[in-house]
Amino acid sequence: MATNRTFTMLKPDAVENGHTGAILEKINTAGFRIVALKKTQMTKADAESFYAVHNERPFFGELVEFMTRGPVVAAILEKDNAVDDFRTLIGATNPADAAEGTIRKLYATSMGENAVHGSDSDDNANIEGNFHFSRREQF
Ligand code: RTP
Ligand code: MG
Repeated sequence: MATNRTFTMLKPDAVENGHTGAILEKINTAGFRIVALKKTQMTKADAESFYAVHNERPFFGELVEFMTRGPVVAAILEKDNAVDDFRTLIGATNPADAAEGTIRKLYATSMGENAVHGSDSDDNANIEGNFHFSRREQF
C-alpha cells in the first residue's frame, strides 16, 4: 500500500462558492501531484458510508445532508508525507482555529462547512481513494 498518498474532497460549499480552481492551485503549489481527479455528487448512502466513523456523533445527520447537497471534487494526491502535510495545508477542522494561509482559513465558513476533507491516516487514504476511484482511474 502506498504511504505517500492522501485523499481529498473539495466539499459542496467550496464548489458552490467557486473556489475549486483556487484550492487546486494551492494544492499544486504545495507540491502535491494529482493521481486522480473528478467532480461527483455523493448519494446519502455514499456519505453515510464514507463518514461511518462519525455515525454516533450528534452532527452526523447534518454532515450527511451537507455532503450530499451538491457536487464535490474528489482527488487522490501524492507527495512525501502526504497525509500529514495535507492536514497541515488544510488547517484545523474549525476555521476559527485554522492557521493563517491554510485552505480552511481562506475558504471555510464554519466548523460544519469547512471547504475540504483530508484523510487522517495512510489506511484511510487508501480506503477513501478506492471508494471514489477504480484502479484504472489512478495514475
Ligand atoms: P474531514 O474528515 O472532513 O477532513 O474533517 P476533520 O478530520 O478535520 O474532522 P472530523 O472530526 O473527521 O469531522 C468530519 C467533518 O464533520 C463535520 N463536523 N461538524 N458541527 C460539528 O461540531 C462538526 N464537527 C465535525 C466537519 O465538516 C468535519 O470536517
Ligand atoms: Mg476526519
